[in-house]
Amino acid sequence: VAPALMPERQSRPGVAVRELAVRAVHRVNEQGAYSNILIEAELAHDRLKGPDRGLFVGLVRGTLERQGALDWALDQLLARPPGQLEPLVRDVLRVGAYQLLYTDVPAWAVCDTSVHLARRLGGRGAGSLANAVLRRLASSANDLSWPDRFSDPVGYLAIRQSHPRWLVTRWVERFGLDETTKLCEADNVAPGVTVRVNLLRTTRSDLAAALAREGIVATEGRWAPEALHLSGHGDLRGLQAYQDGLFIIQDEASMLAARALSPRQGERVIDACAAPGGKTTHLAALAGDGARVLAVDVNRTKLSQVEARARHLGLTSITVSEGDAGRLGELMPRCADAVLLDAPCTGLGVIRRRPEVRWRRSPPDVVAAGQRQQELLSGVAPAVKPGGRLVYAVCSFEPEETEDVIVGFLSSAGGRAWDIDDSPCTLWPHVHGTDGFFYARLRRSRIGPEEGNGAF
Ligand SMILES: C[S@@+](CC[C@H](N)C(=O)[O-])C[C@H]1O[C@@H](n2cnc3c(N)ncnc32)[C@H](O)[C@@H]1O
Repeated sequence: VAPALMPERQSRPGVAVRELAVRAVHRVNEQGAYSNILIEAELAHDRLKGPDRGLFVGLVRGTLERQGALDWALDQLLARPPGQLEPLVRDVLRVGAYQLLYTDVPAWAVCDTSVHLARRLGGRGAGSLANAVLRRLASSANDLSWPDRFSDPVGYLAIRQSHPRWLVTRWVERFGLDETTKLCEADNVAPGVTVRVNLLRTTRSDLAAALAREGIVATEGRWAPEALHLSGHGDLRGLQAYQDGLFIIQDEASMLAARALSPRQGERVIDACAAPGGKTTHLAALAGDGARVLAVDVNRTKLSQVEARARHLGLTSITVSEGDAGRLGELMPRCADAVLLDAPCTGLGVIRRRPEVRWRRSPPDVVAAGQRQQELLSGVAPAVKPGGRLVYAVCSFEPEETEDVIVGFLSSAGGRAWDIDDSPCTLWPHVHGTDGFFYARLRRSRIGPEEGNGAF
């Protein structure tokens, strides 16, 4: 991903980094970019220095995270709804409002830099608008009106925690107000960095010690024996330990999904939706690089990332293949001892990682995702040998994408030969400190031919 264009040299301190932040927010809102990828690309570009790096990340994340609340506040001060403003100018106002309402940046500095930026990006009129709106917001931040928390608790929660109302409504119906508040709060906290130790090359304690020598604090994960949580780090990819393939960045919940498949030496394993390969490489490592792991993905370009990850970690047991997971059972019947289906999903479990996801999804998306996942599961399952295992995983905890998919599959004609092998597992950001994630392990009954057709 190309980083946002560098703004022209600014005489005013602090304007350049804010312009980069506004342009990044704009690309997310208007062009469908993902904030975590844009942020990573910008930081890798290395033109922002020192405190500006943290400021950039905070402004982009914070603005996208709090966008619902910011628009609610701006709406009270604008003659027309924020949605009707020129998009780049609207994003200047949002980034300015974020700083006024959620950071310690002095109001004069926010107004000064925002007005300058609005004029530069939208002309003199935009500058005047930013001046009027942000100065009023600075002086009236404590007098803003919010939905009434007693007569409209869902509306209050949705605006104050900046989540879409439809999502808060469905969560409150499922979990109640208190639990939903905690979940929304967890969505608004940026996750720290978790890495998966390459246990084929080092141990968790040895890697922690090596990182400590670089000034990085590494604490053991609570759930996966190869997880380390890091703090006090800069660019991890510059570290010798990274270049030596001793770890990759991965959330702990994802590690548990690969572990649930328990791949072993000598087995045939398929990762049906593999790219970019976080779980494929974990599956290969768990089998001591002694299984035959086939990584399938519909996206050829992203499959090269699987190959790059395998090379980086020194794994030789992975083969990649472009293809539709939904046809695996038909093309490779009873071939695999173990299959992972980490299905495409709404991503509503990883809002804390991609704050904009909350604004991109709607109720029909959840239903459509569930239908697609069930088709994929039904299409993948026949690739498993009788007696073999299948793990279904998604980074969502919506029922349509989780339990309903499993129940629907087990009650279908193709699912009758299958059982749930272990209780399905759901991980929650506010409970486990991981991404929101669901996985279920299924086992195919032994009735039927014992041998596969040896196609891979
Ligand atoms: C949740 S991501 C997988 C993440 C991956 N397992 C990892 O841990 O790095 C879902 C993947 O499914 C792929 N995909 C979507 N539809 C597919 C299909 N019909 N067949 C195969 N892959 C598909 C997408 O390209 C995407 O890479």
